[in-house]
Amino acid sequence: MGAFAPGAWTLTAEFSDRLLARLADAKFVVAFTGAGVSAESGVPTFRGAEGIWRKFKPEELASMNAFMKNPALVWEWYAHRKKLIASIQPNQSHTALVRMEQMFQQFAIITQNIDNLHRRAGSRTVYELHGNIERNYCITCGRPQTNEEVLRQPGVPRCPACGGLVRPDVVWFGEFLPEDQWDASVRAAESADVFLSIGTSGVVYPAASLPVMAKLRGAFLVEVNPEPTPLTERADEFLQGASGGIMSALVARLSAGKSGPPLTEQSLQS
Ligand code: OAD
Repeated sequence: MGAFAPGAWTLTAEFSDRLLARLADAKFVVAFTGAGVSAESGVPTFRGAEGIWRKFKPEELASMNAFMKNPALVWEWYAHRKKLIASIQPNQSHTALVRMEQMFQQFAIITQNIDNLHRRAGSRTVYELHGNIERNYCITCGRPQTNEEVLRQPGVPRCPACGGLVRPDVVWFGEFLPEDQWDASVRAAESADVFLSIGTSGVVYPAASLPVMAKLRGAFLVEVNPEPTPLTERADEFLQGASGGIMSALVARLSAGKSGPPLTEQSLQS
């Protein structure tokens, strides 16, 4: 178990032989991500001291009831989040996961994040359990709308086809997860050789059941988080710290492992 302060990891961080061996043998690696992965880009997390749900009530902003009761309030909040997310960039964690996808025979990201930063960074196989803030749709006829279209309209956006209310394509409390994304995530969790749970408090279900599902099916379970979570005691390895530094260090270590020791000036001369 690592016990490093957040941000203490550098590219020379050491990882256990057990972890490196499991990754060296792995054919299918799965990364399960939460708000902590985007924290270093400037997207606030939901829980914790500065968490969004400390300042706002989820039942007033993130449920269908709230939307039907006060669509203007819900849209004010989502317009703000859409603009914030459009203005920020993927960070080291996202980039490290793009590189990991190129290193393994099979690789998938299962994300609870709606910010689209994994795709913007260049990851290809991304299952979005809670939707995507860049998409919207009409609650009456289902017609999709881009962020550009909705943000152009003052107040509550309406469908140009039927006049219905348009909502963000994100999963609200009390709603079902998108079935295709969930099914693909379960399949990935059940087939993973190594399952990395990164930057999530692991308390929102059904997403939070995936790491345990993976472990029960034989995956080596790794958690990356500055704080212990309910998952920590089930994890085979707990890498404690901010994910940007840890994931970059891990990818650097794996790249070194795959290509042999680095070529130094000394070894060239000898
Ligand atoms: P949370 O806000 O619950 O948890 C964020 C986790 O990230 C915490 O465990 C932090 O310790 C950790 N963390 C903070 N900074 C970090 C860093 N730099 N590197 C790594 N980890 C860091 O967010 P989620 O677990 O993603 O649902 O929350 C799950 C769901 O609850 C969200 O998808 C959202 C929310 O309500 C919906 O919107 C449906």
